Order: sequence, then structure tokens, then C-alpha cells
Amino acid sequence: MTAIDLVSDIATAAYVVASLLFIMSLAGLSKHGSARRGATYGITGMTIALLATLCLVVVGTWGQPQADLGLTFLVVAVLIGAVIGLWRARAVEMTAMPQLIALFHSFVGLAAMLVGWNGAQYAVGIPVDLEGIHHAEVSIGVFIGAVTFIGSIVAFLKLSARISSRPVVLPGKNVLNLGALVAFVALTVWYVITPEPWLLVVVTVLALGLGWHLVASIGGGDMPVVVSMLNSYSGWAAAAAGFLLNNDLLIVTGALVGSSGAYLSYIMCKAMNRSFISVIAGGFGIEAPRKDAEDHAEHREIDAVTAAAMLAGASSVVIAPGYGMAVAQAQYPIAELAKQLGDRGVKVHFGIHPVAGRLPGHMNVLLAEAKVPYDIVLEMDEINDHLASTSVVLVVGANDTVNPAAAEDPGSPIAGMPVLRVWEAENVIVFKRSMASGYAGVANPLFWRENSQMLFGDAKDRVEEILKAL
Ligand code: TAP
Repeated sequence: MTAIDLVSDIATAAYVVASLLFIMSLAGLSKHGSARRGATYGITGMTIALLATLCLVVVGTWGQPQADLGLTFLVVAVLIGAVIGLWRARAVEMTAMPQLIALFHSFVGLAAMLVGWNGAQYAVGIPVDLEGIHHAEVSIGVFIGAVTFIGSIVAFLKLSARISSRPVVLPGKNVLNLGALVAFVALTVWYVITPEPWLLVVVTVLALGLGWHLVASIGGGDMPVVVSMLNSYSGWAAAAAGFLLNNDLLIVTGALVGSSGAYLSYIMCKAMNRSFISVIAGGFGIEAPRKDAEDHAEHREIDAVTAAAMLAGASSVVIAPGYGMAVAQAQYPIAELAKQLGDRGVKVHFGIHPVAGRLPGHMNVLLAEAKVPYDIVLEMDEINDHLASTSVVLVVGANDTVNPAAAEDPGSPIAGMPVLRVWEAENVIVFKRSMASGYAGVANPLFWRENSQMLFGDAKDRVEEILKAL
């Protein structure tokens, strides 16, 4: 057995171990209690995978001309990537996570596209009867990669408010999307028969156009689904690159990311009462006709001291956090409030909507950061039936996720989206800075309900005032 065979066998075994660790990582990440362990499995798997790949490259290129140069490039690229990754991961605010994730997806797409182009140029050594498959892989890899790349860039720009999050509505948009898919299939068949480089250029341009249109035509309210959809695409792009590079680990990892992203998109569509197709077809993010304050009776306001007295006299309190809690970084005083109320014998729970905040699990991460015990953090389905018997609900920077219009107004743009039925509680206190609408741009009749009172101001400041008064 040569050194190359030995290293390649060890690398194969290492890839199997890494794949298992990735699966264990996903399983761990699906629950609060085991999330940290899940992250550790993922990091360990990735370290093993990187080391095995590095060894394969070193042994595979040993003694070949310019091997040193290739290795130097590799090490420098890994170092630059690691430094940028560490810096961004440490510096990023929780509220800016979705756009960072979108940017990461764009890198995966770009890599898959470049691997595809590279595969097209270095098709040497492939048996004649497999050449067709190789060319199909190249075309599919470039296509998925380019769609993911440009789609993720558009998502990044929208989520970071660098461009408007309003949907771009071109005439016949669904026909355009469908036409692009049909053209792609035709071009791939053509490329398999005559692998002319210009055909690949057309596939790339077509995919870039489709990727841009797919995401640009989706509006604000559906962005969470888009992010997880792009997550899924980036997985399939990686798997396509894995086929081209003949790398089993990349195929397995890509398939894991691709299918878990698709499943997450499904869960989120369910949480927003949307079908996947209707998300792609767009429309939800179109600015809703606003019913503003003049359509409603006066809202009522409450101050922190009165709110504290109401909480002190309550038998049960549910806290429904939303994006505003993340903006205000109010999770620490809220955790303290929950603890103090608990110590006074008040039953306290958190009610978490699946798309509260700006990324899946956003609220859970913030509450875990503030050391809120997991057992008082309940999902929407677990808490909804208990809200009617709750004395006080604190809506902290949440808006769309507690909007009664979703349940009661069939004409509302968010009609049918399951929401936290906070209005059923005896009293509702809404923490926010103004009467403005939430992410979906839909007015919220909760603010004018008889049992609702507004506590205006930054959520963190207001909760701290309540703590002081308590
Ligand atoms: P939103 O509907 O976005 O409302 C957040 C509210 O927080 C706003 O009305 C804002 O009102 C208030 N706020 C902002 N800063 C605040 C501060 N410092 N102190 C107090 N309040 C503050 O929140 P939500 O209920 O969490 O709903 C999430 C929305 O985002 C949904 O439409 C969802 O579809 C969408 N979305 C979700 C995700 C995921 S995966 N979770 C990703 C992207 C988009 P004021 O300006 O008046 O203060």
C-alpha cells in the first residue's frame, strides 16, 4: 500500500466520522438543552474534515511541480477565511445575524459556481461514457451555485436595509421563473451533447438573473423563509460541488444542509400559514393598506410604576418577546423581572412565536443568553391555550406575531398566520416606542383593545423602571 492509498483510506474514515458528527450536531442543535453540545460536535466534525482534506492535498500533490505554491495558497486562504470568520462572529450583533447568514450562503454559492467552472475546464481523465454525466453535473452545479450566490446577495442587501425590502413585481413573474427553469433544462441537455463553454456562460447568466428575480420579488414578511430556502440551496450547491470534486463528505454535508434547510422552510411556512409555492410566487410582503390610528378609538397608556403594581398583584404572567426585545437588548432585565416575579409566587412563562425576531430561534438564543430557565420558555402551540387564563401578558417588542388581525380579519395580508393569542388574557401591556406597525407593515388592532395598554419607550429602559418600582 502506497502512502497515498493509506492517507486516502484514513481520510475516507475521517470523512465518515465527520459526517456522523454533523448529524449528531444537527440533532443536538434541535433542543435548547443540547444545543451547546451540538455546536461542539459540529466544530469537531469540521476540524476533522479540514485536517483530512489538508492531508489529502499534501500527499496528493507531493513532489509535483508547483505543489508548494498550491499549498501556500491553500494555507493563506484558510488563514484569511478563519481571521475574517472569527472577527465577524465576535463583532456581529444578534440583530444582524440574518444578513450575515445570507452573506455566508452567498460564499457557498460562489464556491459551487467556481468549482463548476473549474470542473468544466479540467474534464481530463473522465471515461468517455461518463463524460455526459460530468457535463450535466457541471451545468447543474454552476446553475444552483449562481442562483444561491446572487439570491443570497440580494437577501443580504434587503435584510441589512441597503436596498428596499419591497418586492420587485415584474409582469408575468411566475412565467419568467418557470421559463428560466425550462431554459436551464434545455441548455443542460445541449451542453451535455456539445459542451461548448459559451453554453455555460449562458447558464451562468440565466442563473444569476433567476437568482436575482427570485429573491428581489419576495417581500419583507416572507424574508425568513427566503433565508432558510437559500440555506437549503447552499446545501444543494455544496452537494453539487461534492459530485464534481468526487468528495463524499461534501455530498453528505450538502445533502444534510439542503434537506434541513428545506425542512426549516416548511416549518416556517406552516408557522406563517403560507404554502412554499405562494412564498416563491410572492405577494405577502407587498405593503398592506394601513389602517392607522384615526380608524380606531384612542389607545390607552400605562406607566412603569402602575405596570409594576399590576404585575405584583398578578397570579400568572406570560412574556411574549419579539424583535424589539432584541433591538433594545432587553433580555437581561426581562430575565431578572421573570425571576423576581417567580420569587414572589407569580407563575411566569415566556411564549415564543416560531418567527418572532428576525431569524429562527432568535428569541430562544437571547433568552438562553440571559440564563432564562428552558422549562419556562414555551412554544406558541404550548402557550396559546393558557393565555385566556393569564392575568397579564407583557408584549415586549413583538408586533406581527401577536396581531389579532391574522386570526380575525380575513382581508388582512397576514390572515391565517398562526399568532400568539395574547388578547385573550385579562390584561395586555405592550412595550414599544410608538404606534408604528411591525415588519410586515400591517396595522395591529391589539393596541386599541380594551384590555391593552401601551408602555411607550425603549423596552430595556421600561423593564428596568418596572424592576426599580417592584
Ligand atoms: P415585529 O413585527 O418586527 O415588530 C417589532 C416591534 O418592536 C416593532 O413594532 C417596534 O415598534 C418594536 N421595537 C423596536 N425597537 C424597540 C425598542 N428598542 N424597544 C421597544 N420596542 C421596540 O416583531 P415580531 O412580532 O417579532 O415579528 C417578527 C416579524 O419579522 C414577522 O413579520 C416575521 O415574519 C418577520 N421576520 C421573521 C424572521 C424570523 S425567522 N424570525 C426573519 C425575518 C423577518 P416601535 O418602532 O414602535 O418601537
